[in-house]
Amino acid sequence: MQRIHEYLEQNRQRFEENLVELLRIPSVSADGRCRGAIRQAAGWLADHLTSLGLPAELVPTDGAPIVYAESPAVANAPTVLVYGHYDVQPPEPLDQWLTPPFEPTVRDGNVYARGATDDKGQLLTHVKSAEAWLKTQGSLPLQLKFLFEGEEEVGSDSLNAYLDRAADRLACDVIVISDSSQFAPGQPAITHGLRGIAYYELRVRGAQTDLHSGAFGGSITNPVQALTAMLSGLIDASGRIQVPGFYDDVVPMTEDERERLAALGFDEPRFLRQLGVVEVSGEAGYTTLERRWTRPSLDINGIWGGYQGEGSKTVLPAEAGAKFSFRLVPRQQASKVTAGLRQRLKQLCPPGVRWELIDMHSAPAVLVPPDSPYVAAAQRAIEQGFGRPPVLVREGGSIPIVSDFREKLGVDTLLLGWGLDDDNMHAPNEKFSLADFHRGIRASAHLWQELSVLDSRP
Ligand code: BES
Ligand code: MN
Ligand code: MN
Repeated sequence: MQRIHEYLEQNRQRFEENLVELLRIPSVSADGRCRGAIRQAAGWLADHLTSLGLPAELVPTDGAPIVYAESPAVANAPTVLVYGHYDVQPPEPLDQWLTPPFEPTVRDGNVYARGATDDKGQLLTHVKSAEAWLKTQGSLPLQLKFLFEGEEEVGSDSLNAYLDRAADRLACDVIVISDSSQFAPGQPAITHGLRGIAYYELRVRGAQTDLHSGAFGGSITNPVQALTAMLSGLIDASGRIQVPGFYDDVVPMTEDERERLAALGFDEPRFLRQLGVVEVSGEAGYTTLERRWTRPSLDINGIWGGYQGEGSKTVLPAEAGAKFSFRLVPRQQASKVTAGLRQRLKQLCPPGVRWELIDMHSAPAVLVPPDSPYVAAAQRAIEQGFGRPPVLVREGGSIPIVSDFREKLGVDTLLLGWGLDDDNMHAPNEKFSLADFHRGIRASAHLWQELSVLDSRP
C-alpha cells in the first residue's frame, strides 16, 4: 500500500479541486428548474470515471440519469458495488448561508457547500481510492461497479426501476455506501441499521373562499384549526404515536442492544450544545440514541394556511395543509401505517371540513448483519484510514435503495459514513471536513485490499 499512500499524499490538492468542481453544480433533485444541473452532475461523474480508465455510461431514465461504470472482473476476488447519490437537497433558506451554497468555500479545514457531506464529498472518496489503485498498480484488486443516482433525496424511483432491468449487470457480493456519519469527531463508525420513512401530505378544505373571521368565525370549522387538531391527535404527550396498529410489528429492543448503545458513551450535553436546545424529549422510557436509531417517530416537515404576512389580518382561511413523515423501524410496513393513518384521521377530523391525504413516498427500515466477514474487513480498513477502529452504530436517517438492494439483488450493504453529526445535512452551511475526505479515501483504498482477500461467493 506504500505507493498508494504516496499517491494519495501527492494528490490531496487535486482531489479537493475535483470535489469543488462537483460541488459547484446545483443538482437539486426536488427542483424542476435544476434538470440541466442534474444532467451536468451526472455528466461530470461519467467523464471523471472515464478519464480514470473506468469507461462510464449515462443510463437515461424517466427522471435523473444513472451513472454506471465497472472495472474488469478479478478471479477469486469479490465484486463490490459502490452506490452514491449526486443529487442534493434544496439550499433554502439562502440568507442563512455564510457563503453561497454552490460556491464551495474552505474555512477551518471544512468545505462548505450544499452536497459537501450529502453525498458528493463522500461518494467521491471511493472514486479517488480507485484512481489511486489504477494509477499506481495499473489495476484494482477486485471488481468495482460504480452506481450513482440523482434521485435519492426524492425517493429513488428511477433507480428502483433500473434494479429490475439490470439485476444481472449489477450482480455483486457486497455493496458499499458512504452516505452517513461517524459517531463523533475522531470516532469513525460502521452503521448496521437505518430507519425507514413514510411521507405524507394532508390538505384540509372548508369554505369555498377565505372569509372575514369576525363575520363568520365561530359558526363554521376553521381548516387551520381542524388541521392542527388532526396533527396533534397523531401523537400523545408521552411521545407514543396514536395510529391504530402502528406498534404492532415494532420489535422491542433486546437488553443486549440497549447495553451496546449505552456503552457507546453518548455525550448528551455536547449534543444539546450542538443543537442549541435546552432539553431532549421524545418517547417516554427511551434514551436519546434509542429514540433516534431504534424507535419510530413523527415529524411535521412543513405546515401552511392562513395569513403569514406583516401585521395582522382577520381571516378565516379556506384551506390548510401540512407535510409530515414517520420514521419507521425494522418490520414496520408503510402500507399498514397508511391504512391506520387514514382510519385515525377520519376519527380526528372535526365536522364541517373535508380532508385529503396524499401518500408521497416510503421506504422500509434496514438492518444489516453486523458480524459478516465484510464488516470485519471494513473495520480493518477504517482503522487504517482513520487511525482508530470504528464503533458499530445504527442511524436514524433513511437511504431508500438499501432495502431494494437486499430484495432485488439479494445483497447486503456496508454503510461506512465519513460525515459528522454537525455537518448541517439538509440545512444551511452544509460542510464536510477535508481531513475526513482524505481519511475516507485512504480507508476506501484499504477496503479494496481487505475485501479482495476474502473469498468471492461460490
Ligand atoms: N444521507 C441521507 C441519509 C442519512 C441521514 C443516513 C442521516 C444516516 C444519517 C440521505 O441523503 C437522506 O437524506 N435520505 C432521506 C430519504 C428520503 C428523502 C426518502 C431522509 O432520510 O430523509
Ligand atoms: Mn445522502
Ligand atoms: Mn440527504
